[in-house]
Amino acid sequence: MNNSPIGVFDSGLGGLSVWQVLQKTLVAESLIYLGDGARCPYGSRTREEVVRFTFEAVERLLGEGCKLIVVACNTATAMAISALREHYPQIPFVGLEPAVKPAALRTRSGVIGVLATERSFDGELFCRTSAQFADKVKILRAVGEGFVEAVEQNREHTPETEQAVRRVIEPLIAQGADEIVLGCTHYPFLRDTMERVAAGRDIEIIDSSDAVERRVEYLLDKFDLRAAANHTPEYRFLSFAGDDYIERLQRKAMAEKRERLASKI
Ligand code: DGL
Repeated sequence: MNNSPIGVFDSGLGGLSVWQVLQKTLVAESLIYLGDGARCPYGSRTREEVVRFTFEAVERLLGEGCKLIVVACNTATAMAISALREHYPQIPFVGLEPAVKPAALRTRSGVIGVLATERSFDGELFCRTSAQFADKVKILRAVGEGFVEAVEQNREHTPETEQAVRRVIEPLIAQGADEIVLGCTHYPFLRDTMERVAAGRDIEIIDSSDAVERRVEYLLDKFDLRAAANHTPEYRFLSFAGDDYIERLQRKAMAEKRERLASKI
């Protein structure tokens, strides 16, 4: 039993798509969310920068007494998760990986599209999983150009953002993809727009939040870290970008409850 908080980290607002699933499912657990904000986006930065920022964030969360850390950022996971596990062997870490496996198992056309940031595609795990399924399915990669910025600037529902989504999704559909994997935690906030763009074309959009939630539960049990059933959870938000950003994190976390993890169009 352990009532300490779970730490959740992302470059910015995107990891809130994971936070929301954890908050809804792990009802007794306190959560501390750290959204860097000052250096977002991470997706096109160098490996060294992403590793350095991730360690700074993790240090901060450990300083707050977190018992487990969810790296709710595919980019930071791809660049830094092995180094984190090596540096903090006593801390359980959960990372984010594009849901290639479920998509590969579900596709009927044999073609899946993976959307992620530039750096995430360099991740060891992504390369390994893709190679594992490469002889069974065709994996198309696409960077969600402008997606992270749209979410960070509250522009999810503008015509320009819909155009940006169309530019990325249409070529994937045209090449036969029937599964679209959201390999960046910002992208689920554009799911409505993606659904509109792909409407009527029998496409499934999947993200990794349910798999991450199951992994967190597994580790809480494994290391006997669950909070007491009657524990009243606290939710805190931190950032390297100052108070206005912290307020935005808080508002977004509470305002947009996502009910669905996978949606059929
Ligand atoms: N939300 C992040 C991810 O899952 C990072 C986006 C970015 O900062 O570029 O990859």
